[in-house]
Amino acid sequence: MHDHGDHEHSHDHGGDGDGFDEEMHDVDWGRVRERQVARGEHVETWFDDAGIDAGDDVLEVGCGPGYVTERLAERVGEDGRVVAFDRQLGALASFTGDVPENVSLVLGDAESLPIAPCEPVTALVAYVLHHADRPARVLAELAGALPSGSRVFVAEYAPDADSEVGPPTHYRIAAGTIDGWLADAGFDVTDEFGYENATYAYLASVA
Ligand SMILES: C[S@@+](CC[C@H](N)C(=O)[O-])C[C@H]1O[C@@H](n2cnc3c(N)ncnc32)[C@H](O)[C@@H]1O
Repeated sequence: MHDHGDHEHSHDHGGDGDGFDEEMHDVDWGRVRERQVARGEHVETWFDDAGIDAGDDVLEVGCGPGYVTERLAERVGEDGRVVAFDRQLGALASFTGDVPENVSLVLGDAESLPIAPCEPVTALVAYVLHHADRPARVLAELAGALPSGSRVFVAEYAPDADSEVGPPTHYRIAAGTIDGWLADAGFDVTDEFGYENATYAYLASVA
């Protein structure tokens, strides 16, 4: 079960038998992609709220099996670029079809960021932090690596709103906790969004 009281996650799942695979070592990535497609209508809302436009550079943290990445590639177009990374080779290997020309795939752990962009980017961190071992560390790494003018958009499931999709409520991270981690990492939180599917997001900038 998560302990969000400090910045480490314990891996004591307490035998709760909820079947949630926090580390996603044994997931069927095809099914994860199906879930990405099923919640696809929200993706354009994220991009709008994050201010992602044609020609932008985006760092997609914890991209999973690629559906969001493909939509991002369409949004930024041929003048933009998406660097998508994930710590699970299975996620990157399950990208279907050709990887779009404006997308680069990188295998790496966001807790030890494998990328240091030279130009400002928007970092998209969607539904990742409840899977991370040290979620606050992910945000601290981004704050340290992203150049001034960059933004980070973090989307998570709300623990106080049950929903058919998403992790069990005790794995979810409270909005106030994310807000605090962003501030601790040195980001300026500029906006907060609540969505109908029991999720929320924060937009923050690198000072
Ligand atoms: C639920 S999927 C979300 C995929 C995608 N962002 C989306 O919105 O559909 C979570 C992904 O985050 C990845 N992930 C979790 N912790 C990570 C970390 N520390 N570094 C890189 N990837 C991570 C997992 O491997 C998984 O592919």
